[in-house]
Amino acid sequence: MRLSLHDMIYLALLVTFVACDAPPVPLDDIVVEKTFVPEKCERAVKTGDFVRYHYNGMFPDGKKFDSSYDRGSTYNVYVGKKQLIAGMDKALVGMCVNQRSLVKIPPALAYGKNGYGDSIPADAILHFDVLLLDIWNPEDKVQSQTYYKPEKCSRTVQVSDFIRYHYNGTLLDGTLFDSSHNRMRTYDTYVGIGWLIAGMDQGLLGMCVGEKRIITLPPSLGYGENGDGSDIPGQASLVFDVVLLDLHNPKDSISVEDQVVPEACTRKSQEGDFMRYHYNGSLLDGTFFDSSACLSGTKIPGSAVLVFDVHVIDFHNPSDAVQITLSYKPENCSLLSKKGDFVKCHYNATLLDGTPIGSTHSFDRTYDVVLGAGQMVPGMEDGLKDMCVGEKRVLVIPAPPGLRRERSGRRGTRQRRVGL
Ligand SMILES: *[C@@H]1O[C@H](CO)[C@@H](O)[C@H](O)[C@H]1NC(C)=O
Ligand SMILES: *[C@@H]1O[C@H](CO)[C@@H](O)[C@H](O)[C@H]1NC(C)=O
Ligand SMILES: *[C@@H]1O[C@H](CO)[C@@H](O)[C@H](O)[C@H]1NC(C)=O
Ligand SMILES: *[C@@H]1O[C@H](CO)[C@@H](O)[C@H](O)[C@H]1NC(C)=O
Repeated sequence: MRLSLHDMIYLALLVTFVACDAPPVPLDDIVVEKTFVPEKCERAVKTGDFVRYHYNGMFPDGKKFDSSYDRGSTYNVYVGKKQLIAGMDKALVGMCVNQRSLVKIPPALAYGKNGYGDSIPADAILHFDVLLLDIWNPEDKVQSQTYYKPEKCSRTVQVSDFIRYHYNGTLLDGTLFDSSHNRMRTYDTYVGIGWLIAGMDQGLLGMCVGEKRIITLPPSLGYGENGDGSDIPGQASLVFDVVLLDLHNPKDSISVEDQVVPEACTRKSQEGDFMRYHYNGSLLDGTFFDSSACLSGTKIPGSAVLVFDVHVIDFHNPSDAVQITLSYKPENCSLLSKKGDFVKCHYNATLLDGTPIGSTHSFDRTYDVVLGAGQMVPGMEDGLKDMCVGEKRVLVIPAPPGLRRERSGRRGTRQRRVGL
C-alpha cells in the first residue's frame, strides 16, 4: 500500500506527538496513585469530614512549590466544601488514615489559567504527595469499644465515682502522645464531673473493674482547635486504650459480704473484743498486696480500694470470765471441788475454731492438779471449781493476757484504717 501525502503528514504528526512528553495527567481529571495503603481502614474520608494531612506540592518536574512539612504542622480542612482546589476535594474522598497517595491534578481542577501568586504559573499541573493523618466529622460522638470484659462485674463506673486506670493515648495515626505506664502509676480521677476532657468523662462511664476499652473522641470533646500546646496538635482526634483497675464512690461505706457463716454461731464479735483472724489483702483488680501469711507485701497505691478476705479464727473480750457449759451432772453430787483440793481430770482441748491442741487421752493419763495453787491459768482454775466427781463441762477460757500475741492483721487494722 502506498501512503498518500496526507497520510504521511498525519503519521509525522503522530510521531511528533508521541515523541513529546506525554501529559502526566489527562486534561480533564485527577489521577491518584496509592503509594501506601494501611492494612486496617476503619473509616474512609467522606464529603463533609474534617481531615488533617501532610503534603508536598510539586510540579510534574519534581520542583516543590509548597509543603506542610516545612511549616511543621498538618493541613487541616473540611473536605468537599470548596475550601480546597477541586482536585484535592476529590482526591481526599475515600482515603484512610495513614494512607499515602500521589495525586496529579490538571489545571482545570487546580489554579487554571490564572495560576496562584508567584508560586503557581498559569495552566500548571500539580502533584501532591499526601499522607492522611486524621478524620472526624462534626456529627461524631464519643465511640467506645470494649475488647475485654471480666466475667464478674458487680458494679460499673457512674458519674462522680473516683477511678484509677491505666491508659495509652494516641492520635488516630497511632502516634503515642501520653501513657500512664511511662509514669509508672495509674491515672486517678473523678469521672463525669469535669475533671477530665469531655470525651473521657463520657467514655469511661459504664466500665467494670478489669474491663479494657478503646475510647475514640473528636477534638471538640478532646483538646479542640488548639491542642494541648505540646504533644496533641489542634483539631486532633484522640484514641485512648484504657484498662480500669479501681472504682469507688467517696460516699461508699465499707461493704461486707459474708462468704461462710458457721451454723453454730453463739456469739458475734463486738467492739472491744480481741480477735485472731487470717486475711488476704488485695486491690479491687485482684492484685495481692499482703496477707496474714505474708506480711511483706507490695506497696498500696494512693486512693486504692482495699479488699480483705477475712477468716475469723478466734475472739474473746478481755473482760470475759471463763464460760462454763454443763454437759453432764451425776445424780449423786454432794461433794464439790474447792480451793486446795487435789483433782484428777480428763480433758480434750481445742482452739475456738475446733483445732485440737491437746488431750489427756493421748497421754493415757489424767491431768492432776491442786486447785488454787497457781498451777493453771486463772480461767482453768475457775472452771474446775464446784464440780462433782463424774461431772462433765465445756469450758471456754479467754486467752490470758500474757498469751496474747498481736501478730495477725497488723496491717489490715493499723496501717490502713479501712472505712474510717
Ligand atoms: C499500653 O501500652 C503498654 C505498653 O506497650 C501495654 O502493656 C498496655 O497493655 C497498653 N494498654 C493499656 C490499656 O495500658
Ligand atoms: C488466702 O489465700 C490462700 C492462698 O490462696 C488461701 O489458702 C487462704 O484460704 C486465703 N485465706 C483467706 C482468709 O482468704
Ligand atoms: C450417793 O451418796 C451417798 C451419800 O453421800 C452414798 O451413800 C451413796 O453410795 C452414793 N451413791 C452412788 C451411786 O454413788
Ligand atoms: C475427749 O475425747 C475422747 C475421745 O474422742 C472422748 O472419749 C472423751 O469423752 C472426750 N471428753 C473428755 C472430757 O475427755
